[in-house]
Amino acid sequence: MRTVHSLKELRTILRGYRQQGKTIGLVPTMGNLHEGHISLVRKASEAADIVVTSIFVNPMQFGAGEDLDTYPRTLADDQEKLEAAGNTLVFAPTVDEIYPEGLASQTQVVVPDVSDGHCGASRPGHFEGVATVVTMLFNMVQPDLAVFGEKDFQQLAVIRKMTRDLMMPVEVIGAPTVREDDGLAKSSRNGYLSDKERQIAPAVYQTLQATARKLSDGRADFEALEQEAEASLTQAGLRPDYFNIVNSLTLKPAKPDDNDITLLVAAFLGTTRLIDNLTVSR
Ligand code: PAJ
Repeated sequence: MRTVHSLKELRTILRGYRQQGKTIGLVPTMGNLHEGHISLVRKASEAADIVVTSIFVNPMQFGAGEDLDTYPRTLADDQEKLEAAGNTLVFAPTVDEIYPEGLASQTQVVVPDVSDGHCGASRPGHFEGVATVVTMLFNMVQPDLAVFGEKDFQQLAVIRKMTRDLMMPVEVIGAPTVREDDGLAKSSRNGYLSDKERQIAPAVYQTLQATARKLSDGRADFEALEQEAEASLTQAGLRPDYFNIVNSLTLKPAKPDDNDITLLVAAFLGTTRLIDNLTVSR
């Protein structure tokens, strides 16, 4: 498995694969890889001949006061895990390689509607940063397909809409959330949790499941359900950012006759912000 840091090297290598008629799958990541990321690599390798995993902590998607500087950078460990998972090529560019003219004058991609609300409301500019860097990665790698995790449900919706609206010739594939044994969704940010916080963290998924059960029991008083969920997160020792019950496709507030409903949650444990979601089909 090779690792390249420059766009020039990336393009040279990929040109060779394309000339051989190989299909290319892309897995965009910010590194510090865990089994969630690796499941995406495996999925990509089932669907494409060549898998490119990008590792880039994208400054454009971090807000002021967020964890850009402390975000874990673990390239050597990541390379070992990718090698074992059947990845072909790692693209690990520097910030200068991606934003040579600086962030301030960077052209941006804005994806309306699905970027509004939820994480988009709590993290202004975040989804513009994500959509912009993913567009650039699509243009740099020119993959046939790209795999993203359902763990970041709103991000996946943003990328699906962007790809559709801008006629990008990339098949976007979603992959299920990989969890710890106690239900906590795997995340690079779980490493920030103290032992005590780690014990509290499974309450996020437990609250999703409890709310899903109430929906299955026939309740459709969504606002009351949201309030009950936020209360149980608070009770467990978390500070809820939001708990929203939405239509799975539009991400707008759910209506009682919606077939697919998704529960979206973000909550702070100390300074760590955890997100998760659960889709209920009725
Ligand atoms: P990152 O947080 O590193 O996640 C990379 C990919 O892994 C995303 O598609 C994310 O949804 C997926 N992922 C994370 N945890 C997962 C889990 N527990 N189970 C399954 N998939 C999981 O998301 C980003 O990076 C960035 O925003 C990026 C798309 C790379 C753009 O910078």
